[in-house]
Amino acid sequence: MSRGTRAVIDLRALQHNFRQVRERAPGSQVLAVVKADGYGHGAVAVAQALREADGFGVATFGEALVLQRAGITQPILLMEGVMSAEELQLAAQHRFQIVVHQFWQLALLQRVAVAQPLVVWLKVDTGMHRLGIPLTACTQVWEQLRACASVNEIRLMSHLACADDAGHPLNRSQREGFAALVQTTGAVQNSLANSAGLLRGEAFQFQWVRPGLMLYGATPLAEASAEELNLQPAMQLESRIISTSVVPAGETVGYSATWRATKDTPIGVVAIGYGDGYPRHVSPEAFVLIKGERCPLVGRVSMDMLTVDISNVPDATLETPVILWGKGLPVEWVARWAGTINYELLCQVTDRVERVYTAG
Ligand SMILES: Cc1ncc(COP(=O)(O)O)c(C=O)c1O
Repeated sequence: MSRGTRAVIDLRALQHNFRQVRERAPGSQVLAVVKADGYGHGAVAVAQALREADGFGVATFGEALVLQRAGITQPILLMEGVMSAEELQLAAQHRFQIVVHQFWQLALLQRVAVAQPLVVWLKVDTGMHRLGIPLTACTQVWEQLRACASVNEIRLMSHLACADDAGHPLNRSQREGFAALVQTTGAVQNSLANSAGLLRGEAFQFQWVRPGLMLYGATPLAEASAEELNLQPAMQLESRIISTSVVPAGETVGYSATWRATKDTPIGVVAIGYGDGYPRHVSPEAFVLIKGERCPLVGRVSMDMLTVDISNVPDATLETPVILWGKGLPVEWVARWAGTINYELLCQVTDRVERVYTAG
């Protein structure tokens, strides 16, 4: 009998979600974002499943190498750029595309000779004020990059701060600032939109969109569920019951004895905890699905286990599968109970949770 704790990754759901991107942004190429190990889904498996993607976006050099070593042939973009002269030379050797978001990265390109000139995405700060060259300095930097022997092609990109919020004024001002720079520079390959941005319509899409979250079937929008967006969850987090008992009325369950039975209550112990990535802090509304029934969590989530009230499923036994999130229980609900976001939960499923790949 195995512990049964696994993340089942549905490759068909990924492909379905990719098609949604294509349908929503038919005029754009798609740079699929697979950083943080494909948002916890396994970057290589995701990239292999998304054969039609026009490129892949990662955060670190190591992530790019993993994809390339696995035989991924589409362009790979280092979205934070390179961190040293050595990385710049290696990026050129490996034909990775790089972001330039800081003046020191520009200086590196000017100073360091590389084996092959690179495709460089000049990252513009249009208002998020995290990474990027200030809009006002960009035309000058554009010219400096043009004069740089290490640069083969220059593209523009920026990142939206509030695209999840339809009415936020930054959406418009960032888009307008970006579009104006595209015009002044005459750049022909440009990218502004993440998942939420591309769902805001054509004006945000430019020549490249950079979806991450929506590929995994989670909603990037505050106002719409994944189902409403016709996205399918790519990850189902599952475990199983490894122990059952009836806790007598008046007794407590778990660390710090935070939950007390008001009546004799059948309790199932599920083999998953915060050591697997299930959040430790969830509100009293939290439940899991067992045989399609909602079973509330009781007591504290511990490192390797959590406890649920299985009154709703009298026939629950050892080995009965338990769904923590997935079909019928969107990861967004768990995120709400935990006071966090879907992104964080997907990324923090730990390595000891086996990833099992299915095709629907
Ligand atoms: C620069 C950049 N582009 C695109 C994305 C993808 O964003 P999302 O997962 O919201 O689609 C990210 C993710 O954080 C990012 O940092």
